[in-house]
Amino acid sequence: MSAAVPMDPQRSVTTTTFRVAKAQNRRIAMITAYDAPTARMVDQAGVDAILVGDSLGMVVLGHDSTLPVTMDDMLHHTRAVTRGASRALVVADMPFLSFQISPQEALRNAGRLVAEGGAGAVKLEGGRRMAETVRYITQAGIPVMGHVGLTPQSVNQLGGYRVQGRETADALALIDDCRALEESGAFAVVLECIPAELAELVSREISIPTIGIGAGVGCDGEIQVFHDLLGMGDFTPRHAGRYAEVGTAIREAVGAYTQDVRDRVFPAEAQSTHLDARVLAEIKAARAGSLKAASGGSSPSISGRSDQ
Ligand code: KIV
Repeated sequence: MSAAVPMDPQRSVTTTTFRVAKAQNRRIAMITAYDAPTARMVDQAGVDAILVGDSLGMVVLGHDSTLPVTMDDMLHHTRAVTRGASRALVVADMPFLSFQISPQEALRNAGRLVAEGGAGAVKLEGGRRMAETVRYITQAGIPVMGHVGLTPQSVNQLGGYRVQGRETADALALIDDCRALEESGAFAVVLECIPAELAELVSREISIPTIGIGAGVGCDGEIQVFHDLLGMGDFTPRHAGRYAEVGTAIREAVGAYTQDVRDRVFPAEAQSTHLDARVLAEIKAARAGSLKAASGGSSPSISGRSDQ
């Protein structure tokens, strides 16, 4: 499988790039990242945008849902990602309860992710019920990406991580959600875990790009979680692509290192530096002299054990 081809390898990606991509039928490739070196690698690989997802809670911080992720967590990791990325658009997820309480609080938190974290845009979960909030944030000049379908912050309400929009009423509601986001000024919308036919239909109906995950190939772009894509997680969702077995490679490499340390094979000559012979002799002589003085004249070895 080939690497993603950037829209323009020389230019920074902005929300305008997203709009142009949809108009020109060029697919948008997104991936998550949570730290600077990963952001640098995915940026160099040519991905169009990087999401500092609140999936951070599950794939990096060891939580079993995204609900415990805080604004401080998101700020910390967004700063790291923006330090690593130089071309791709960095989108920061708004964590649970950072945007649901009031549009004013949502704007304050979105502003922090941009001003303190360096993000170029924010993402928040929800459709029609978040329309007023999306409008409020975008009118302040902050680009917002919507997220509908399986919205992990509502996992308790949805009854688990399951495909959404299978029935007519749910599918129609999801289309209304996307339209509401578009009308509120969102620049793109993530469609997570919905049937491919529904995703394609929505993608044709709205003017802003749809970014799918578990939503078939008919979306305007795709997003995947870095750890899923590279085989680094304990569990791989069905919708995740598998482009490498990095988890296996890490376990094998660290296992070999551990064995080499135990067998005194590592570090080897290549990883060692040596004292000049003269300096070593002087050190040994100096140590032998001071140890002799400390022991009142007897002559302990340099290791501290007495010569017997
Ligand atoms: O948090 C995340 O990584 C996400 C993507 C799965 C879309 O929201």
